Amino acid sequence: MIRPVRHIAAMTPYALAELNAPIGKRLVSLSQNESLQPPSPLAIAAAADALASAQLYPDPDWTALRIALGTTHDIAPSDILCGNGSMELIASLTLAFANPQNAVLAPANAYPFFKTAAQLAQARFDTAPEKHGQVSVDALLAAVRADTRIVFVANPGNPTGTRISRPELLRLREGLRADIMLVIDEAYGEFADHLDEPMFDLVKRGDVVVLRTFSKAYGLAGMRVGWGVFPAQIAEHVRKVMNPNNISVAGQAAASAALKDHAYMRATCLRTATERDRFISDLRAAGFDVADSFTNFALIRFGNADAAKCADNALRAEGVFLRAQGGAGLPDCLRVTIGDPDDMNLTAALLKRWKEGENT
Ligand SMILES: Cc1ncc(COP(=O)(O)O)c(C=O)c1O
Repeated sequence: MIRPVRHIAAMTPYALAELNAPIGKRLVSLSQNESLQPPSPLAIAAAADALASAQLYPDPDWTALRIALGTTHDIAPSDILCGNGSMELIASLTLAFANPQNAVLAPANAYPFFKTAAQLAQARFDTAPEKHGQVSVDALLAAVRADTRIVFVANPGNPTGTRISRPELLRLREGLRADIMLVIDEAYGEFADHLDEPMFDLVKRGDVVVLRTFSKAYGLAGMRVGWGVFPAQIAEHVRKVMNPNNISVAGQAAASAALKDHAYMRATCLRTATERDRFISDLRAAGFDVADSFTNFALIRFGNADAAKCADNALRAEGVFLRAQGGAGLPDCLRVTIGDPDDMNLTAALLKRWKEGENT
């Protein structure tokens, strides 16, 4: 009998969205925090052009992409690593810096892949309570143990949608020991860039990593391009774990071209934020509990897990797929990715209909 190693056998597969609309219903997927717009036309054209040289392996150093990122964000290209999605960077840095003798720490309602990465590294996964959907620096610092090696904070957070301010993140970093790496995952960072609190400068301390992705604001989730700013002594080891040919020629070309179309990305963020805030106000007016969001999604609190499940089922029956949040410790919540106005109006109408049915 061929057996997997024990820690892999014990893991459950990472839970992605289930998207199976009932027969005859149009599938409305608002479950994966994808962009409401296709990629920039420049990115589409660049990816198509790149296919003409797809007989060659991709650039393992992401040279053009790193230069473009460096120029856009005023960062030295040599400080940047690019991943097959930021998921590859999260998994690789955890494998390189955590092991069965130590622990990874994250807020209790954090992005579930942080836990998956810890499980891959066989590290203990610790959590710190959040308060009303907000990351608590005090709770994180109180949860640090002698064997803690990595602290993950997504900012803005998924699925909470809330944000932690730069002074609070600085306070977190100051309160952590020097042998603990702080990873700030800014997958939704572009939706909060107007607040003008960039974190890249912290990387020069040597104990902070900042991650971003092209999957959200740039609408390139299907291309799998993430990136991050790493201290050199951390990057050196993370690269050993990564697939050396990790991003396809089309992915690298699309991401580089998307950076040239800054106006398109900003327009996507603006459109998303406008639609998001309209949706949130609409639901609040109907009596739903929805937190402010700094992302391309909204989190609805139903008060208990049964009500969330019931609402989820009512929408699924009509082909509308939101995302249950039991995996992030919020079984009473559903997360709604912001889609186009028709889909948001349909979703709001179905939620209101469900609520009326509950109250009769
Ligand atoms: C907080 C957070 N980090 C990372 C990711 C992964 O993004 P990527 O598509 O770059 O792997 C996501 C995706 O939803 C996310 O929400």
